[in-house]
Amino acid sequence: MAGNALEAQAWDLLNHARVTLGGRAIGVRASTDESLGTLNYDRCFVRDFAVCAPAFLLRNEAGIVRDFLVTVNALQAREGGLRAYEPRQGLMPASFRPMPGGDGHTLDADYGEESIARVTPVDSVFWWLITLRAYTRASGDAELARTEAFQQTIRRILHLVLTGSFEMFPTLLVPEGSFMIDRRMGVYGHPLEVQSLFFAALRAADELLTGDDGPGDAARERLRNLRLHVARHYWLDRTTLDRLREEGRDQFGERVMNVYNVFPESIPRWVEEWLPADAGYLAGNIGPGRIDFRFFAQGNLVAVTAGLADHDEALRLMKLYDERWDDLVGKAPLRIVYPALKGEVWKVMTGADAKNGPWQYHNGGRWPCLLWSFAPAAIATGRTDLLERAVAAAEKRLGEDRWPEYYDGRRGARPGKLARRLQSWSMAAYLYAKACLRDPAAADLYRWDEDVEPEDATPARFRSSPSTA
Ligand code: GLC
Repeated sequence: MAGNALEAQAWDLLNHARVTLGGRAIGVRASTDESLGTLNYDRCFVRDFAVCAPAFLLRNEAGIVRDFLVTVNALQAREGGLRAYEPRQGLMPASFRPMPGGDGHTLDADYGEESIARVTPVDSVFWWLITLRAYTRASGDAELARTEAFQQTIRRILHLVLTGSFEMFPTLLVPEGSFMIDRRMGVYGHPLEVQSLFFAALRAADELLTGDDGPGDAARERLRNLRLHVARHYWLDRTTLDRLREEGRDQFGERVMNVYNVFPESIPRWVEEWLPADAGYLAGNIGPGRIDFRFFAQGNLVAVTAGLADHDEALRLMKLYDERWDDLVGKAPLRIVYPALKGEVWKVMTGADAKNGPWQYHNGGRWPCLLWSFAPAAIATGRTDLLERAVAAAEKRLGEDRWPEYYDGRRGARPGKLARRLQSWSMAAYLYAKACLRDPAAADLYRWDEDVEPEDATPARFRSSPSTA
């Protein structure tokens, strides 16, 4: 279907998905497809609506984004957190909906306690901050973020995410499935996507906080530390693979080279064959004795737009897209993770999750909603050509396939076996990508101009030896 007709169709369907409370639109349902049973797709998910927000903002419909921000703000856990079975102070829900059978003014929110496998929505607070910043930029309304209520909310978020961990690294330690990939996929610990969203959200908080008090300073310091930590430990290219092979093993003490004690035997064969000489990317996860070499799209793309990756890394990442197009984009944008887990590894890592079979759903399926981060990343790196290619691929399929949530398949792309159609963030991400092609300034909603200076604030005695810097 031609671009304009497709955009009109997407808007019709998105309008139909609006969630209202007391007569005001406060978000959109994840999907309006009821053919597979609604499950929880009739709810407004915080991360899904955050991806939908720029389409509304660029269409001068800032009101729905404002009301979404106000709604989620009211749902932030204000107190408690010392007891089990209650959300920690500062947490925001994964999703909400008007209370079924209620008075039309009350909300029902899920902080993970109703979700499949009871996963925690760590990312909701980040999506809220990133969306507040985009709203402020696009609407010109700086007042909302400056209200005392919102300022307190930002501080509560910072308190939640900057404290309360057992370890001393600048990255965030999270449980399995705590973000967009919300089923077991070996993404516990320090998954890249959470670190990238964390970084972007800290940048947003730094920009939106008024007054130069403690939380702002702490956010800025964490940004500098996170930047250094990710550059040092997550970046993968041919040189870093060689270095990994040379580093010492089982080193004990303060100044060691192989901080995470990664064994070169754990470097998978596929990465050696797959990674082109002039390209690179950020690893999916790092932890004791562990590098997850899988390529996760969202974490890498947000790292580009938020400046967690430096300019050279960003260019090489887009080169990877160019040179491995069939694997990472192909017939429908964009692959969520490459490669898929298979065989015994799939069984152990996913717990034999049939929905996450090889090249399906989170395990190597293709998700149109990822156009949301691909578009500003392509613009930021001057690779509009890649964005045009991805949008052209989307236009061949999305309307005809009725806007699936995701596609299955290693080479081809068929709408996912269990995919909902009429998926809101698939439509809105396409609309945003089109807006970025029409006017590259649209990418600025999720970009920052200045760099964050990387800084190592760890006491000198804990620093790794200079050769790993
Ligand atoms: C699935 C996805 C999650 C999304 C939700 C609603 O659970 O894994 O990322 O937010 O559906 O679309």
